[in-house]
Amino acid sequence: MKLKYLVSAMAVMMLSSGAAVAKSDNLASFHAEMDSCQSCHTKPVKVSDSETHENAQCKSCHGDYAELANDKLHFDPHTSHLGDINCTSCHSGHDKPQLTCNNCHNFDMEMPFAETKAKKKWDGAWDQEKIQKAIDKATL
Ligand code: HEC
Ligand code: HEC
Ligand code: HEC
Ligand code: HEC
Repeated sequence: MKLKYLVSAMAVMMLSSGAAVAKSDNLASFHAEMDSCQSCHTKPVKVSDSETHENAQCKSCHGDYAELANDKLHFDPHTSHLGDINCTSCHSGHDKPQLTCNNCHNFDMEMPFAETKAKKKWDGAWDQEKIQKAIDKATL
């Protein structure tokens, strides 16, 4: 474990020993419970398409790929020919995580927070009129 976040990890242990059941079933709520939304996000929350700020935050606590590398693993998801890709290309914040390697390969490895429910995909059958009304209301 890296020294950089030893203190907060201790805080987590103390928190979880007091709580009956942790309701953190996804990466974001797990982290938000030990600190806040702002451990990953800007305030106010503004997420760019490339999720640059969020990914810099991951690395500031967990280190970069060189630091995450683990020779002991038969398959190391943190060392690959994809290079310095976004952490969030696999570790989604609020959505089901995905081992992006398996777009091409077939590696059998579980992601942390694999139990997270997947967000509903965009569906053309949604009530477009209702959605537009909601958007109009929000931008008033
Ligand atoms: C562990 C880091 C992390 C924490 C903590 C976190 N988020 Fe996020 N959030 C992300 C990432 C990564 C995304 C990009 C979309 C995704 O991966 O789900 C995101 C996306 C979002 C978005 C953009 C909408 C979307 O779903 O794309 C909103 C709004 C948001 N988060 C709100 C929050 C709030 C409110 C909290 C605190 C309860 C929070 N987040 C805590 C990582 C985090
Ligand atoms: C403020 C510091 C901080 C930030 C920012 C942060 N983490 Fe964490 N993260 C922690 C701590 C502390 C733990 C709990 C101790 C542990 O499991 O290593 C943790 C746990 C985790 C775990 C679970 C490890 C396990 O044992 O299952 C994953 C995966 C993870 N973080 C990935 C991420 C990713 C991806 C991001 C960016 C979207 C991120 N973290 C942002 C501090 C942070
Ligand atoms: C290709 C997909 C992928 C990417 C990209 C990825 N991870 Fe992971 N990560 C995983 C998988 C799979 C595990 C589970 C590994 C295990 O079970 O040993 C994991 C585990 C972790 C853990 C907990 C166990 C550990 O090794 O400490 C942390 C923390 C973590 N990742 C942080 C990050 C950070 C930070 C980044 C970006 C610099 C990142 N990950 C990028 C797939 C990925
Ligand atoms: C866009 C498709 C694609 C993605 C995504 C991808 N790979 Fe690959 N990978 C390939 C191709 C193509 C090869 C070359 C296969 C060959 O030469 O037989 C390869 C080769 C490899 C090899 C060497 C295999 C061998 O037998 O020597 C490893 C290990 C590997 N990839 C791991 C990963 C990991 C880990 C990830 C995710 C972080 C990943 N790959 C993501 C396409 C991909």
